[in-house]
Amino acid sequence: MTDAAKALSHINRRGSLKYGPLALVTGASDGIGREFARELARRGYGLVLVARRLDRLEALAEELAKAHGVAVDVLPVDLSEPDQVEELIRTTAHYDIGLLVAAAGFGTSGPFTRISVATELDMIDVNCRAVVQLSHAMAQRFVRRGSGGMVLMSSLLAFQGVAQSANYAATKAFIQTFAEGLRAELRPQGVDVIACAPGPIASGFAARADMVMGMSQPASVVAAATLDALGRRGTIRPGLLAKALEASFTGMPRWGRTLILSKIMAGMARPDARTAAGTAQQTNTVERSDLT
Ligand SMILES: NC(=O)c1ccc[n+]([C@@H]2O[C@H](COP(=O)([O-])OP(=O)(O)OC[C@H]3O[C@@H](n4cnc5c(N)ncnc54)[C@H](OP(=O)(O)O)[C@@H]3O)[C@@H](O)[C@H]2O)c1
Repeated sequence: MTDAAKALSHINRRGSLKYGPLALVTGASDGIGREFARELARRGYGLVLVARRLDRLEALAEELAKAHGVAVDVLPVDLSEPDQVEELIRTTAHYDIGLLVAAAGFGTSGPFTRISVATELDMIDVNCRAVVQLSHAMAQRFVRRGSGGMVLMSSLLAFQGVAQSANYAATKAFIQTFAEGLRAELRPQGVDVIACAPGPIASGFAARADMVMGMSQPASVVAAATLDALGRRGTIRPGLLAKALEASFTGMPRWGRTLILSKIMAGMARPDARTAAGTAQQTNTVERSDLT
């Protein structure tokens, strides 16, 4: 056990933090998760930081301990591996965690038929399976301790299907629905749940999804607003961009949203991905004409 882990396992007082004393943040090595970690440390939470890139987690832990004097432990975990998630649950069993921020996730862009199915299945494991596995363990602990909070990452893309990102949008629809249901179920037991549905955010997301975002907002617009809304609202669309995009969709049928967001997504996929999309369409045309 590391020194930080020992410190964390001995923190028993919840103090004045509503969901304290400890928060577990997945996806803390980059983007939105890293900003959640920074905001929580600013508010006085001790932290358990999770992602695969240990060097980044360690650098963040050092930064936060120095700046805010909070205890931070780092746990390198590949969330696409259910056994590693189980190990994470076991390792943190004696930590007094009152808040889960499940920010780890990734997307892909471009033609579904061109993306490796292994990557798409990994995405379901990270974006959905691991979130359910962790939420289940944390919900049991939170219900036992009589309070807790969960922030689950949805997206603007959760509310309709989106071409060239069909599986990603579906994983986010899963999380949106999951969070809404959990909120209704756990609220009477003292546990708050919120679905956080940002629009485009500048982070490591676009590079990993092989896309270029036209407009985006910094990851810092997400954390404080979401934490402030936890316990008061079921879904938040943090940042002006998410709110403006949502407002522009008001009253539009679901198929209309799919049409528009699919066009936007096609424009954001990297040129080589777009070429691949064109090639795929051409191939389909050839195949159809071959049949007639
Ligand atoms: N950026 C956006 O425009 C946007 C909009 C709406 C919703 N979201 C959602 O917000 C969440 C955070 O995304 P982001 O924008 O912050 O992306 P990001 O900068 O790429 O960060 C993703 C985080 O997830 C972690 N992660 C990815 N795969 C993992 C795995 N197999 N095991 C453990 N950790 C893993 C990464 O850490 P390692 O690589 O070190 O493992 C990283 O810390 C995601 O759920 C995303 O769907 C993002």
